[in-house]
Amino acid sequence: MTILVTGGAGFIGANFLNLFVPRHPDHTFVNVDALTYAANLSSLAGIADRTNYTLERVDLVDRKAVEEVVARHKPDVIVHFAAESHVDRSIHGPEAFVQTNIVGTFHLLEAFRALPEVSGRLFHHVSTDEVYGSLGPTGAFTESSPYDPSSPYSASKAASDHLVRAYHRTYGLPVKITNCSNNYGPYQFPEKLIPLTILNAAEGKALPVYGKGENVRDWLFVTDHCEAIWAVIERGAVGATYNIGGRSERRNIDVVRQICTLVAEARGVPAASVLEQITFVTDRPGHDARYAIDPTRIEAECGFVPRETFESGLQKTVQFYLEQHDWVRDVRSGDYRAWLDRNYGRR
Ligand code: NAD
Ligand code: DAU
Repeated sequence: MTILVTGGAGFIGANFLNLFVPRHPDHTFVNVDALTYAANLSSLAGIADRTNYTLERVDLVDRKAVEEVVARHKPDVIVHFAAESHVDRSIHGPEAFVQTNIVGTFHLLEAFRALPEVSGRLFHHVSTDEVYGSLGPTGAFTESSPYDPSSPYSASKAASDHLVRAYHRTYGLPVKITNCSNNYGPYQFPEKLIPLTILNAAEGKALPVYGKGENVRDWLFVTDHCEAIWAVIERGAVGATYNIGGRSERRNIDVVRQICTLVAEARGVPAASVLEQITFVTDRPGHDARYAIDPTRIEAECGFVPRETFESGLQKTVQFYLEQHDWVRDVRSGDYRAWLDRNYGRR
């Protein structure tokens, strides 16, 4: 079986390939990635030389290149991770989000539709709970929650979900969609809350918390997300949507405080000396108050149960960022420094 993974050099895609390439030597994995700022090939160092893995540098916005790579590999399964993924970047510059997340998904669907025989194949679309917008203090997103995206990022992901569903209904393409809550773990680009906080905490820098830090996210360790996707590929119904989450809601301020405590322990300094780095900054425009996933469907139909608790996953994540100095150095390119100036300079 050939599995074409888009965005396999990014955070979740790399964790997916690192798990499943060695576990399934009988399958061929093709990583189709444009290698944007968010990609890091050193995340894939452990599998790069495997005979069942290849990398194709392709930009999904280039329709001809997408058609060519899909036609050449004739994948049995496409797992579509590739996206512009950062909400704050989408506020500063939405265009890349429209191009990659909407137009890129359209190109991939068209290339998949052009394959000689699509029945028996699968297009698995990886999406986000942010398409549902914001929750009040109670309740959780189900697969039938209405779409109500707040940011250019979530609007572009919502559009891509609609396209995938429309291609199923109109052309009969075999598709599945998963909408997952916030991921954390190794190899996440340090523009996102958890890796940014770990690295800044360790380096004595300010820990920017938007607004009052009362916004709530529902955290899932990245390999649990990957296992959930695999479970849906194997056992989910064609044409269906599955929400993925870990029943692990936390306020941002509590996450940041927990990281401060873990970093202080690791460095052998008092927690108070790290906690005092917390800095409340101007809120994100359109900031969703709360996300929470009701994972009943994926639990019942696919038997998915997360392995990590937030505590065990966070411990592993802190350890990764404190120990993997080469990986951290690689991602902190000139682009990373420019991003910090652009996003936090005005706050
Ligand atoms: P990421 O930003 O870490 O990685 C994105 C990858 O896509 C990179 O390797 C990048 O090079 C590639 N890419 C970007 N534009 C491309 C293009 N035009 N053509 C080809 N490749 C391109 O993202 P991530 O956090 O790993 O997210 C992966 C997917 O999971 C996304 O679709 C995202 O919406 C979804 N998701 C993420 C989270 C989360 O918490 N990170 C949660 C739920 C869903
Ligand atoms: O819910 C799934 C989504 O989770 C994914 O679809 C996105 O790709 C992923 O980036 C993530 O989006 P968030 O906006 O929730 O993640 P981020 O890490 O950017 O922010 C998490 C929360 O922390 C959010 O409420 C904003 C806040 N925050 C973020 C940063 C970067 C801060 O308070 N300070 C910060 O410096």
